[in-house]
Amino acid sequence: MSLPPGFLEELRNRASLSQVVGRKVTWEQKKTNTAKGDFWAPCPFHSEKTASFHVDDRKGFYYCFGCHEKGDAISFIRGTENVGFMEAVEILAREAGMTMPARDPQAQQKMDRNKELADVMEQAVQFYKLQYNTANAQAARDYIKTRGLSQDTQNTFEIGFAPNDRGALSQHLRGKGVDEAKIVDAGLAIKPDDGGAAFDRFRGRIMFPIRNAQGRCTAFGGRAMDPNARAKYLNSNETALFDKGRSLYNHGPAREAAGKVDSLIVAEGYMDVIALAQYGFKHAVAPLGTAITEGQLALMWRMHPEPIIALDGDTAGLRAALRLIDLALPLLEAGKSLRFCIMPEGQDPDDVLKARGASAMQELLDGAVPMVNLLWQREIENKNFDSPERRAALDTSLRSAIQKIQDKSIRHHYGQAIKELRFQLFAPQRQTQQRGQFKPWAKQAKQLATMGAKASMLAASTDTAMRLRESVILAAAIRNPSAALQNETAMEKCPITTPDLTEIMNALLANLHTDLSNTDTQNSFDDILAQSLGYSPLDRLLELKPLHNHPYLRKQVNAELTKRTLEEELAKHSALIGASNEIKEAEQDLTGLVDEGLTWRLKQAALAKGKATRAVEEEGTAAGEDASAMSKELQNMLDNQIWVKKKH
Ligand code: UTP
Ligand code: MN
Repeated sequence: MSLPPGFLEELRNRASLSQVVGRKVTWEQKKTNTAKGDFWAPCPFHSEKTASFHVDDRKGFYYCFGCHEKGDAISFIRGTENVGFMEAVEILAREAGMTMPARDPQAQQKMDRNKELADVMEQAVQFYKLQYNTANAQAARDYIKTRGLSQDTQNTFEIGFAPNDRGALSQHLRGKGVDEAKIVDAGLAIKPDDGGAAFDRFRGRIMFPIRNAQGRCTAFGGRAMDPNARAKYLNSNETALFDKGRSLYNHGPAREAAGKVDSLIVAEGYMDVIALAQYGFKHAVAPLGTAITEGQLALMWRMHPEPIIALDGDTAGLRAALRLIDLALPLLEAGKSLRFCIMPEGQDPDDVLKARGASAMQELLDGAVPMVNLLWQREIENKNFDSPERRAALDTSLRSAIQKIQDKSIRHHYGQAIKELRFQLFAPQRQTQQRGQFKPWAKQAKQLATMGAKASMLAASTDTAMRLRESVILAAAIRNPSAALQNETAMEKCPITTPDLTEIMNALLANLHTDLSNTDTQNSFDDILAQSLGYSPLDRLLELKPLHNHPYLRKQVNAELTKRTLEEELAKHSALIGASNEIKEAEQDLTGLVDEGLTWRLKQAALAKGKATRAVEEEGTAAGEDASAMSKELQNMLDNQIWVKKKH
């Protein structure tokens, strides 16, 4: 839409800057001279106690003597509401009583109809809110209390209640003169195909109004309180007002906050957004029961150039992250990217906040990794690169991923970053070939390899646990190669998921049949492996802190204990990975039926598998308890790892 000539000038003349600014600041009475159009206040753009923000109402300009922020009414609205130019103009025009230039008549008609539907939605918000305070809603209020929502939070998010009655809302609205068609068109009631009477869509649910960026209620989310309900959440259907793929929960407030704190969080669920806000993270949004769409990505990027995707620490969450990469790659532009932050396993942001508070959450957000790391991680996960063919396959898949990036300069940067990660992954092998010749180079390569492993570690907590178990397996096998030989098949089948440990496993298997009878030094097998690896694998493995002072992996003292440890950890590891694979299959079965409940169902499957694995682990531990002389700290770390998030 283009504005007619003179429109902006007229708008600037009509709008009162002091009025616009006055809503966001408290004027310093002593310094302010209203008669002269001279206004002073503490600056809304930076935090301060003194009033160095000056508004010249007559000229329509503001200037802060502290942070040097300056501009006019339009830029003030853009800055404080975090909206684009046109939207700021619209807001200002509405306030100044100027009509925006006319659109075509059809569009006008549609707007009028939408306005009517929006009014019906507003009445529904009020109705649900009133119901929430009646005796009928006792259970709903009790439930919300158990979720820890303060009264303030409940008010802010306008929590309501839909009575368990087929016609409560419809009757109420009809009583106010709203006709049935409108109630159905707003998505509040369902008209059966057989022509029967319409009935309320939401019954016996806690209601969350969904408002668009302009603050209009466009839809509702309704949460069941009964854990056995068919759908935990029920959302409005798509209506003239509600385009699910272009809507975000908490859009308006988050947009404003995102501008202030220069950050945007994207969570999976309503409750996450609400909990985040209660703990001070007002800059959070969530999609509405579906995977993030292109439209939602565009909205997010309008709010902030680098949103942080904070996903649930479960299979569904990780799967969502990986799908999002494919969606985002072709859309990347300069200054538009994503970061990813995966919650600890089995937890969502709501859980993290409740269990460990805002500072723990902030720490996780600060540790969010760039998208390129996640892409890399996905491509190398659970794969061996021990042959030229396999490495070529990796190159092909990486290249095809990068090709999806349209923006030339970003594609280049991704290429560089991937090249570096690739170099780090394969560096130790190249080093082997040139051993002895380029000592300083070899040292650097080793450093880089460790760095690479660190960089590609996504969720530090879970990956560390996985790395730990794999390190124990490898170290025990190196300490007791004959035990490893006895368990050769299990060793071969043991998937190593930590990138820089794969080559240790490969070298180990390749040398397992070496005759060790002539070597009787303590580190014999380690020495043999060091010859092909170019570094001592034991040293590398025991670098991990919990293994530092390990009683019998550090020194070869008890062959029997080492053997038991090896067997026990091998069994646990394969149980763990097996469970993950089952979930992978379940997911593939489900992809045909994408719908509202999908994420939720996946989560349930994951939860069930998680429980199964835990049982396996507990059994395993009990059996080996007396034999195991592992340090308590280490055993705890290994066993508290319920089931490890896997990536595909
Ligand atoms: P979650 O199950 O993670 O939701 O699903 P949540 O917000 O953490 O819910 P609580 O904490 O159990 O109350 C993530 C999102 O998926 C959608 C909802 O939008 C939910 O917020 N969803 C989930 C549905 O649309 N339908 C469902 O049956 C379940
Ligand atoms: Mn959740």
